[in-house]
Amino acid sequence: MSRQSATAFAPASIGNVAVGFDVLGHSFPAIGDRVRATRTERPGVTISAITGVTKELPLTAENNTAGRAVLGLLETTQPGFGVELTIEKGIPLGSGLGGSAASAVAAVVATNALLPQPLTSQQLLSFAMQGEAVASGAVHVDNIAPSLFGGLVLTVGIERPNVRQIPVPPAIRCVLVHPHMELPTREARQILSRSVHLSTVIWQTANLAGFLTGCFTDDLALIRESLQDVIIEPQRQSLIPGFEAVKRGALEHGALGCSISGAGPTVFAWCETDDAERVRDAMVAGFTAQGLACDTWICAIDAVGARVVD
Ligand code: HSE
Repeated sequence: MSRQSATAFAPASIGNVAVGFDVLGHSFPAIGDRVRATRTERPGVTISAITGVTKELPLTAENNTAGRAVLGLLETTQPGFGVELTIEKGIPLGSGLGGSAASAVAAVVATNALLPQPLTSQQLLSFAMQGEAVASGAVHVDNIAPSLFGGLVLTVGIERPNVRQIPVPPAIRCVLVHPHMELPTREARQILSRSVHLSTVIWQTANLAGFLTGCFTDDLALIRESLQDVIIEPQRQSLIPGFEAVKRGALEHGALGCSISGAGPTVFAWCETDDAERVRDAMVAGFTAQGLACDTWICAIDAVGARVVD
């Protein structure tokens, strides 16, 4: 007998990781969203409650990232029942931490546990993508895939993305500093130039290749050299008050790299364990100078993604 209800947790994620705009991301398991899915006799999807750090989200399933993702899943699998969702947000709205993706991922993982014949994570990916598109106005997988699969994840292709988990050197810690402001992803995408100079593309291509090679070979010096976004960050940094000081503080205190998490305004840094607290404090000082309070987290990048927790 299949379950009547299930709760899933999906971690936050850091899109782009500086060098892989829309194709690279990593999970950040210190925070995340939880979604409970319960079978209903009534077909379709209802959202009965949204609680946690963000409550001002649509309750209409079609307009909600979690609701839209589950509608797609039910339309395809036709299980003969509907689903009621309750969403507990652990990820702040408009933070650049993949909150819309995490809700969509947690919702499909929880609903999948109710199905008589559950789908694979690869199959769930496309439904979560449909949900994410509701929030950001574009189809990209760099938050969805790490939240679903866990760890540092590269996606190749968009219709049926190939997903590959990339090893992260065990010494690496990720520092996240979230200033208390919102930056809608749509807005941060609209300002981006449609054309990029060839020499800049070459530089970014080398950085992406160098970064991935550094991860595969545990070469922290190469990661330090290549963890730089020369295309997107220069265009977005003016949207984040104090960004230059935050980044400078991180690098001066030993970070291997520091950039914008997803579309911002959260800023992340990769560093070695012993430097993490100093890096965090320097980053916070950059935002404090702008009068912005912050939340901070430090964690390892484990290859553990969304999962049923109840
Ligand atoms: N990769 C996308 C962007 C989504 O940077 O706009 C970020 O969450």
